[in-house]
Amino acid sequence: MDAKIVALAGGSGFIGRAIARRLLAAGGVKLRVLTRNPGTARARLDLTGVDFVQADIVQPASLADALKNANTIVDAIQFDGYPVENPRRGLTFERVDYGGTVALLEAAKHAGVQQFIYISGAAADENSTHPGFRAKGRAERAIRESGLTYTVFRPSLVYGPEDKVVNGLARAIRFAPVFGVPGTGRQKVQPVLVDDLAACVMLAVSGRGRNGTYDIGGPDLMTFDEMMRIIMDASGHRRPLFHIPETVMRGVGGLLEKLPKPILSRDAITFVTADNACDIEPLVDEFGINLTPARVGMAYLAKK
Ligand SMILES: NC(=O)c1ccc[n+]([C@@H]2O[C@H](COP(=O)([O-])OP(=O)(O)OC[C@H]3O[C@@H](n4cnc5c(N)ncnc54)[C@H](OP(=O)(O)O)[C@@H]3O)[C@@H](O)[C@H]2O)c1
Repeated sequence: MDAKIVALAGGSGFIGRAIARRLLAAGGVKLRVLTRNPGTARARLDLTGVDFVQADIVQPASLADALKNANTIVDAIQFDGYPVENPRRGLTFERVDYGGTVALLEAAKHAGVQQFIYISGAAADENSTHPGFRAKGRAERAIRESGLTYTVFRPSLVYGPEDKVVNGLARAIRFAPVFGVPGTGRQKVQPVLVDDLAACVMLAVSGRGRNGTYDIGGPDLMTFDEMMRIIMDASGHRRPLFHIPETVMRGVGGLLEKLPKPILSRDAITFVTADNACDIEPLVDEFGINLTPARVGMAYLAKK
């Protein structure tokens, strides 16, 4: 039997790279990375045996050739600057998270792709007032109603040696005498190691979790403050924490979102102060995975 062709949209990104490595290590698939810049993506991924194909999910015409003969799509895309939208450049949840997913689905149906695997988010909810959570919720519905076989993963915060968020927090702690946590610090997070997510995606490609939606977080539910303490312990840099009220952060976000290239927005503050708890039981039952505790998974911070 021919190897399955997996089209990995977002394969040059943080989560996409972990998925690519896991799929190649498992074998039995031909991997095709969909990217806006094949040259850059090839250099970033540095793996042999991968095809890199030019595709932009907000340019639906570019998708037909990219999906030719593919059996499975893995969608791990997010817009540049996420979670700070830049409507002037078309970088919005609505256009990329929702519209891009719909475009991929349409192209998938035309190309005869059978399976769609989506990296959504823990707070996805089509009725949410937050544009990001709403766009992911609407994208999920489009997937469920597409007629394709699907698996949706809803990760809480994803971390790993190449992530931006946890590494960024560790770096900030190292260089600052005190650290300002956005909001109360009591928001719930359940950080999941990127390799655990990639392992589940690999199992989904081979048929596990068929037509299911799965929360995925680490084994420990914690507050943002507790996560900061784990990061400080792992990196060896202990700092006092203080809390910046959400109203203050939103005020700053309201000013900064007016810049031509916004670096913060009110919605981004809502995003980082929202709860990201997961019910991991259905995932563990279906995928049989031993999720990595944060204190073990974040050991790479010792080098920072
Ligand atoms: N990281 C987390 O903690 C986390 C938590 C929950 C959910 N998620 C979800 O997981 C997914 C992946 O996140 P990530 O952290 O891996 O993102 P990332 O590192 O920022 O990677 C984003 C990827 O999206 C691709 N991309 C962006 N715009 C595109 C477009 N118009 N057309 C085609 N490709 C495009 C980029 O590819 P090129 O630049 O090569 O085109 C890149 O590979 C997202 O849906 C995100 O919401 C992430």
